[in-house]
Amino acid sequence: MGTPLPNSKTLFLFSLRVLFTASFSSPSTAFANEALSQCLISHSQASQPITSAIYTPANSSYSTVLQSYIRNLRFNTSDTPKPTLILTALHESHVQAAIVCARKLLVQMKIRSGGHDFEGISYVSISSPFFILDMVNFRSVDVDIETETAWVQAGAILGEVYYGIAAKSKVHGFPAGVCPMVGIGGHFSGGGYGNMMRKYGLSIDNIVDACIINVKGEILDRKSMGEDLFWAIRGGGGASFGVIISYKVNLVRVPERVTVFRIQRTGEQNATEVVYKWEQVAHKLHEDLFIRPVMDVVAGENSGEKTVRAKFIALFLGDAQRLLSMMSERFPELALQSSDCIEMSWVESTLYWTNFSIGTPVDTLLSRTPRGLTHLKRKSDYVEQIMSKDELRLLWKRMIELERPILTFNPYGGKMGEIPATKTPFPHRAGNLWKVQYATNWHEDGDKAARHNIELTRKLYGYMTPFVSKNPRAAFLNYRDLDLGVNHNGDESYEEGKVYGVKYFKGNFNRLVKIKTKVDPGNFFRNEQSIPVLPR
Ligand SMILES: Cc1cc2nc3c(=O)[nH]c(=O)nc-3n(C[C@H](O)[C@H](O)[C@H](O)COP(=O)(O)OP(=O)(O)OC[C@H]3O[C@@H](n4cnc5c(N)ncnc54)[C@H](O)[C@@H]3O)c2cc1C
Ligand SMILES: *[C@@H]1O[C@H](CO)[C@@H](O)[C@H](O)[C@H]1NC(C)=O
Ligand SMILES: *[C@@H]1O[C@H](CO)[C@@H](O)[C@H](O)[C@H]1NC(C)=O
Ligand SMILES: *[C@@H]1O[C@H](CO)[C@@H](O)[C@H](O)[C@H]1NC(C)=O
Ligand SMILES: *[C@@H]1O[C@H](CO)[C@@H](O)[C@H](O)[C@H]1NC(C)=O
Repeated sequence: MGTPLPNSKTLFLFSLRVLFTASFSSPSTAFANEALSQCLISHSQASQPITSAIYTPANSSYSTVLQSYIRNLRFNTSDTPKPTLILTALHESHVQAAIVCARKLLVQMKIRSGGHDFEGISYVSISSPFFILDMVNFRSVDVDIETETAWVQAGAILGEVYYGIAAKSKVHGFPAGVCPMVGIGGHFSGGGYGNMMRKYGLSIDNIVDACIINVKGEILDRKSMGEDLFWAIRGGGGASFGVIISYKVNLVRVPERVTVFRIQRTGEQNATEVVYKWEQVAHKLHEDLFIRPVMDVVAGENSGEKTVRAKFIALFLGDAQRLLSMMSERFPELALQSSDCIEMSWVESTLYWTNFSIGTPVDTLLSRTPRGLTHLKRKSDYVEQIMSKDELRLLWKRMIELERPILTFNPYGGKMGEIPATKTPFPHRAGNLWKVQYATNWHEDGDKAARHNIELTRKLYGYMTPFVSKNPRAAFLNYRDLDLGVNHNGDESYEEGKVYGVKYFKGNFNRLVKIKTKVDPGNFFRNEQSIPVLPR
């Protein structure tokens, strides 16, 4: 039942790391640093000084700048490959200089906005030397309620977007992710799903314009980039095509009061029956209602025993009374009580969903200081058919054996089933019942702990094989997973890219490759899972 493990690949990556760490302080690298700094300075405009945005390892703030947007402690170790330089661009001309110099000096450029990439590919690289173009200073959020739109820069975080909208309107919101610290640059360009997706789709379904800098250093908007490129950067990942400066989005309407609840059931409290019913109804419920079960392993009632716990968290775009009548009719097994229902504003619900206690001040959304970081591994799947009660029970048994990995089910249906699979590069639309996220978090440092916990995650993924999409086994780009394949961007780049490309994009992969070949034929914008160019 287990999934094949890319052991040799993992070892390969480990040995590469050692190699690059060793070469990190070599004279040629120091020379490259110097050359890159000099090039950046000579390509910047006197009116927009660049020196205060350049951090080389010699700068005492280099480590702080690097670490401040590492969101996975797996990549905060002494042998994680380090950039030769970090450019915290302050102006578009700095981005242009970065592109010119990286091309000229053949240094790989990594683009980082919020740093939430699960595999750290916005700030780590398997090729050397590399530097980081950090978009952290591009963080404006301009909300225009009259036109119900907003321009949002790449380095802004979701919390700033939610806060910015709520500061101007009680009846507008935006459909995007659950964690407020996620950055716009990666999140929007990779899809962006959250608890309003059954009503309004993903973030990309609500993007109407963008500003991007291409490989030639040209600043383009939707009109000047053309519809092909505009299509690609709504789900195909920004980093394969250019540097996203900002996106323009359509806001969506939310009621002044929404309702949330959190209810949990352990295996001993009929979790199997309740999840089984959830499987049947969650994707068919009214699109105002999103109910997500999260399964983990906890102590059972008898000492020494373990049980699976299903935590159901919901957002309802309406009041508690309407929710209660809907639930008693369609999903009585959850036994929702009026005392479980909490009415609040939409912006407060974004805090509730990320586990802040009720009454937490809304400006907490502006914080960029994580509440606690761990080492982590994530994987994803799409489920197209219902699992029987026996299959659920077997899954719980496996989870109890593994203990750590957590499963999250995100219901589909509603708008997600209506948008054609080719409308954006994100192909996972009609036909899916729910999306699975596999999550393992751990606190122990070191390769041994990492290998062990990654292995647990892969095992759970292996157990789910019979129940999830096949040919290809689909995956979500924003849940970056290097187990799906790695690109070394050499002669085999197209073949390597196809391996993960069809999993993330299915039939849209070919169109992405064609667009990539047109806009970046030299494959300047490349990374471990970028869109390859067509082989010559
Ligand atoms: C705690 C946590 C919660 C999450 N919750 C959700 C969720 O609810 N829904 C969801 O859909 N996803 C979620 N994600 C995944 C998240 O959407 C992706 O990791 C996303 O890519 C992060 O964007 P970022 O800008 O923070 O990441 P980064 O690590 O900065 O970038 C991610 C990728 O995008 C590229 N990129 C970044 N900025 C730019 C730019 N300006 N131009 C071009 N390319 C760029 C990077 O090079 C990299 O390839 C979550 C992740 C974490 C860690
Ligand atoms: C580090 O970089 C910052 C910003 O560029 C600069 O102000 C500072 O002087 C630098 N410090 C050192 C030690 O180079
Ligand atoms: C990352 O590593 C550095 C150096 O070991 C350490 O000082 C820092 O606290 C670490 N960051 C986190 C969030 O643990
Ligand atoms: C579990 O289901 C049984 C049978 O339907 C029911 O009698 C019992 O009250 C339920 N237990 C819980 C905790 O919901
Ligand atoms: C959420 O908060 C509660 C109460 O503070 C805590 O017990 C629980 O572990 C938290 N859950 C997560 C997933 O962080």
